[in-house]
Amino acid sequence: MTTPMLEIRNLHVRIEEREILKGVNLSIPKGEVHAIMGRNGSGKSTLSHVLAGKEDYEVTEGQVLLDGADILGMEPSERAVAGLFLAFQYPIEIPGVATMTFLKAALNAQRKGRGEAEISTPDFMRAVKEAGKALNVDSEMLKRALNVGFSGGEKKRAEILQMALLKPRMCILDETDSGLDIDALKLVSEGVNALRSPERAMLVITHYQRLLEHIVPDVVHVFSDGRVVESGGKELALELEQKGYAGFDGEKAA
Ligand SMILES: Nc1ncnc2c1ncn2[C@@H]1O[C@H](COP(=O)(O)OP(=O)(O)OP(=O)(O)O)[C@@H](O)[C@H]1O
Ligand SMILES: [Mg+2]
Repeated sequence: MTTPMLEIRNLHVRIEEREILKGVNLSIPKGEVHAIMGRNGSGKSTLSHVLAGKEDYEVTEGQVLLDGADILGMEPSERAVAGLFLAFQYPIEIPGVATMTFLKAALNAQRKGRGEAEISTPDFMRAVKEAGKALNVDSEMLKRALNVGFSGGEKKRAEILQMALLKPRMCILDETDSGLDIDALKLVSEGVNALRSPERAMLVITHYQRLLEHIVPDVVHVFSDGRVVESGGKELALELEQKGYAGFDGEKAA
């Protein structure tokens, strides 16, 4: 048995005295793409934030292993160095920092953390131009402050551009499809699919079966009230779209 890229065991998380995650179990082998679907407020973004190491969450029980290493004690930057990446549902605006500058700093911080040399400016420019072209992010946008005044779709494309440059081993996408027009959805999906590799795993959180036609998942998990209540193949997403979540919530209660 090879070590999974991500293994979540019985994860319980509270925020402000309220338990949001109630025993999440999830294992994603290297090379696989898993999807999570679930009602609004079921805890999907909470899970993604806890994985990325965002503060304010209290882990009361459980373990998270990234390629066998326990990450819950690590700082967010250490998790990034270890290869974890989260594309936020609501990307954060950073006034005063040009997108290009931010991307280079993020890339170099990770290289430094791994004991690698900084990327040269020409190499960086080449990489960012190439990735930007594929995602329809032009040099004008790269000069603007990160996410400030970006449209919803532009923010999502900027997140995927960051992912394409960082080439993380574990990619988590939290509703990256929401707010994207049809052409942007295709570009973003192609960007994500280009990163599929036997050495990488992905977790795609979405409400829509439509995204999963572009990024075809190996496994679909249904999330309800803070845990995974059902897992299956990609046909599970179709079933959800037809039936809604009611049947799955009932099973959880049993
Ligand atoms: N800072 C906070 N303080 C209090 N409650 C919070 C906080 N953050 C999240 N919650 C609550 O935790 C629950 C889960 O929220 P979360 O954002 O994880 O849901 P979600 O599954 O991502 O929903 P959506 O599909 O709408 O994005 C919600 O009831 C939310 O109100
Ligand atoms: Mg969410």
